[in-house]
Amino acid sequence: MALSFFVKNKKAILNRCRDDYATKMRLKYAPYYLAMESQKDTTVRLGGRDMIMLSSNDYLGLSFHPKVIEAANNATRQWGTSTNGARSSNGSRAFHVELEDKLAAFLGKEACHIHAAGYLSVMTTVATLAQKGDVILADKNLHSCLWDGIRLSLATVERFSHNSPDDLREVLSASNLDAAKVLVVEGVYSMEGHIARLPELTEIGEEYGCFTILDDAHGFGVLGKQGRGTTDHFGLGDKVDLICGSLSKSLASTGGYVAGSREVIEYLRTNSKQTIFSAAISAGQTAAAMAALEIMQTEPQHLERLWSNTKKYKAMLKGLGLNIWESETPAVPIVLGSKERVYPFWKALLDKGVFTVMSIAPAVPAGKDLIRTAISAMHTDEQLEKIAEAMAFAVKKL
Ligand SMILES: Cc1ncc(COP(=O)(O)O)c(C=O)c1O
Repeated sequence: MALSFFVKNKKAILNRCRDDYATKMRLKYAPYYLAMESQKDTTVRLGGRDMIMLSSNDYLGLSFHPKVIEAANNATRQWGTSTNGARSSNGSRAFHVELEDKLAAFLGKEACHIHAAGYLSVMTTVATLAQKGDVILADKNLHSCLWDGIRLSLATVERFSHNSPDDLREVLSASNLDAAKVLVVEGVYSMEGHIARLPELTEIGEEYGCFTILDDAHGFGVLGKQGRGTTDHFGLGDKVDLICGSLSKSLASTGGYVAGSREVIEYLRTNSKQTIFSAAISAGQTAAAMAALEIMQTEPQHLERLWSNTKKYKAMLKGLGLNIWESETPAVPIVLGSKERVYPFWKALLDKGVFTVMSIAPAVPAGKDLIRTAISAMHTDEQLEKIAEAMAFAVKKL
C-alpha cells in the first residue's frame, strides 16, 4: 500500500515533465538549444551552413583574440583543467587573487570576488546582502538571476516601473522607512539595451539610505572609459556600493565577479553559501578574462569598432522601420509584439544565414515579444551588409 503511494508521487513529477506545454512547443519548433558544429570569430556552422552570429554577448569580439586563447591554453597547461573545490576550502589559487585585484582596481573598488558563473555572482550578491525584514527596491525588468537572489534573500520586494526614478521615489515613500533597504538595478538591460538612469536612481536611493547593487553584465566593456562600465559612464564612482556582473560577455570567458568595499566582500566570503559550497572558476577561464581585461586597456580599437558597428546597424534597422525599443547600446532588440510575428521573422533570418534568438513573453513583458540581437566589434563590413539584406528579406515576411 505504502509503496504504491510513493509510485504515484513519482508519476506526478514524470507527468509534469511529459505534459509540459512549453517543452512540447520548444521541441516542436526547435528554436533553442541549437548546437553549432563549429565557430570562427562571428561565423558559426549550423546544419552544415555558415551563419553570421548576431546574438552573442562577445561585444568586444575578444573570444578569438590570439592573446586570450594563448593565455587560456598556457594557464590550463600550468594548472590543469579544474580547481576541483571551493575557494573556501581547497580551490583557491594565486590566479584568482590576481584577477580579483585587477578587476577591483579597474572598477575603482577596494576588493572583488570571482565565481564560476555570472549568474552565481549576481544571485549570491543579492541573496547574501539582503535578509528577512529588509526591503529590496527592484526594477521590474531585472534579469532572472537577480530575481532568484531576491527570492533566496527572504527580504520583502517592492518593484518599481522599468528605469523610472519617479516610480522609485513613489514606491520608496510608501515603504517601511525603518527597514534596511537595498536598491537593485542593471547598468544595461540585456533585452532592451537601455542604460539605467543611474544618476537619478542613485540620488533617490541615497535620500532613503539604500544600499545599491548594480548588475553591470552588459555595461562592462561597453560603456565608460576603456569599458569600465555604467558607473564610469556617468562618473558616479562610489554611489554604487556593489558592482556585480559576468565574465562571459566583454571579458570573453565564463564566470562572474562582485566588487565593492573590502568589508562587504569579506562578509560575502563568510556568508554566501553559493561561494562557500561551489567549486572555484578554472585557471583557463580566469586567464582568458585576465587577458581580455588587459586588452581592453591597451587596444582601444575594439571598443571603437563596437560603437561604429552599432551605429551602422541601428541606422539600417531604423531605415527598415523596425522597432528597436530605444536601445542605447549594442544589445539591440527587434520588437515585433507577438510570437506569431517573431517566429517567421526569426526563421527568415535563419534561412538567410543570420543567427538570432527569439524572446517571447513571459521572458519579456507581454506585447514586447522580440528578436534579441547584439553587435560585436568582430562583425565585418561585409557581414553587416549581409545582415542588412537578411533583415530586408525578413521584414517582407511580416
Ligand atoms: C544582466 C545579466 N546578469 C547576469 C547574467 C549571468 O551571466 P552568465 O551568463 O555569465 O552566468 C546575465 C546573462 O545573460 C545577464 O544578462
